[in-house]
Amino acid sequence: MSRSVLTVGDLSAPEISEVLDRALETKRRDDRHGSELSGKTALLIFQKPSLRTRVSFELAVTNLGGQALYLSPPEVGLGERESPEDVGGVAGRFCDLIVCRTFDQSNLERLAAASGVPVVNALSDWEHPCQALADVLTIREHGGTCGRTLTYVGDGNNVARSLAVAAAGEGMHVRVSSPSGYELDEASVAEATRRASESGGSVRLVSDPVEAVSGADVVYTDTWTSMGQELEARQRLEAFTGYQVDAQLVANASAQANVMHCLPAHRGEEITDEVLDGPQSVVLDQAENRLHAQQALLAWLFD
Ligand code: CP
Repeated sequence: MSRSVLTVGDLSAPEISEVLDRALETKRRDDRHGSELSGKTALLIFQKPSLRTRVSFELAVTNLGGQALYLSPPEVGLGERESPEDVGGVAGRFCDLIVCRTFDQSNLERLAAASGVPVVNALSDWEHPCQALADVLTIREHGGTCGRTLTYVGDGNNVARSLAVAAAGEGMHVRVSSPSGYELDEASVAEATRRASESGGSVRLVSDPVEAVSGADVVYTDTWTSMGQELEARQRLEAFTGYQVDAQLVANASAQANVMHCLPAHRGEEITDEVLDGPQSVVLDQAENRLHAQQALLAWLFD
């Protein structure tokens, strides 16, 4: 039976741990190539622009012996030129795997149902599970996960949702700090809390960013205006005043705290240049780990 990863919740905490162990093991090796996708074709359907996700998935498929075919936003017309059912049905006849970046989470579910092949979420408006795998991998490499505090400051968006669930499952104490109206949704908090109760972690929503960051081991932020929300940009800039990750805010965290951002960043909005480019920033490790985490995930799916 094909196994899809449409949300981070499609992977149990032990499964995430297994994938990340595998990623670390492969990353340590000189030869990072495998054969799990030998003779297989992956269709990359992207409805939004991408640097990190597209490049890392193409490389991951190639490193595992497979072939990646990329369809750009204007080529796809998912739900416009053709229904997700028709795209999925056709793709399932040609390909062994679909990697899809889309707006509506239901497009991923419809592709998975129609294609009969594994579908991996490369970002939707609801979740960014592969980003969360790379993020937790990066935290593992920079001091570890279990028992440490991760504070996410900003929009309770797709990145925050996947990250909270994945990090809580690894035993982290997760704090999410957002202005009123932009908090993490109740269902994600409940799932993260459930995982935390099994791992020894915890989850708290803390509206005051200074209190949220106090003593944190990791400070994470993401853009206040995601792709597709451009018309809300001005309103969001106002709403997020006081939530910028700047040197003054980071000074409240542990002295050794790492700063994370999934990129691309709106420099001067959610994060300052000084912090993003500073010595505590691990954003390039995070970006590199997209490759290692996703390669391990694909190898695990096709093992
Ligand atoms: N972080 C991330 O998903 O980057 P891209 O949009 O460049 O893929």
